[in-house]
Amino acid sequence: MSSTAAVTFREMTRGDVGSMARLEATVSPRPWSEDLFAGELKMSGAERHWVVAIDSVTSDLVGFGGVMFVAADGRIVEGHIMNVAVDPERQGHGLGRRLLDELVGVSKERGAESLTLEVRVDNKAALALYRRAGFAPVGVRSGYYGHGEDALVMWLHDLQSVASGPQSAAAAAEGNEAEGEPSDV
Ligand SMILES: CC(C)(COP(=O)(O)OP(=O)(O)OC[C@H]1O[C@@H](n2cnc3c(N)ncnc32)[C@H](O)[C@@H]1OP(=O)(O)O)[C@@H](O)C(=O)NCCC(=O)NCCS
Repeated sequence: MSSTAAVTFREMTRGDVGSMARLEATVSPRPWSEDLFAGELKMSGAERHWVVAIDSVTSDLVGFGGVMFVAADGRIVEGHIMNVAVDPERQGHGLGRRLLDELVGVSKERGAESLTLEVRVDNKAALALYRRAGFAPVGVRSGYYGHGEDALVMWLHDLQSVASGPQSAAAAAEGNEAEGEPSDV
């Protein structure tokens, strides 16, 4: 895991679950519960990877992100970004990008060939974050979040050809944009 002067990244532990649920409740219209986060820890490392961002001075949890791995024939072929969240007071300073970078890097190390995710079609910040990382929209799941809220499905292909991190991923995904832009977004 990497660190900077202000924030350290490490894997999620049982002790983080309460802080993650509290942060989630401040940023999501349908927040994950504490039980849901705790359930993620019951999955094996081959199935999940969750990273948390810790303020180096206060030791507060200020962000987190998780990826689910999909295996076929005994090897990881795909990662699915499950959630990324940043404390509202820390948003807009690159922390979301760095959390996503951690998830992209781990997925690449595990051998995933692509990454997918769903995001609310009106979530401008998250859309900007994912586009910046090289994800391209490929379609819409109508009513995915209930109450008529649609999800945009995004993919990052050719993960293994990405040199490192989101900036390179964006360059690698330029072709995805050309082939995958949906007309109804
Ligand atoms: C989405 C989220 C994680 C982004 O975290 P962040 O730390 O603010 O993001 P960053 O500062 O790393 O910014 C990443 C990119 O998104 C852009 N961005 C961030 N907030 C934005 C906003 N409100 N509107 C438009 N663009 C925005 C930034 O400009 C940056 O792009 P750039 O590098 O090209 O300038 C954060 O807004 C959040 O926690 N939202 C609530 C939870 C959520 O919706 N998670 C996604 C679930 S799918």
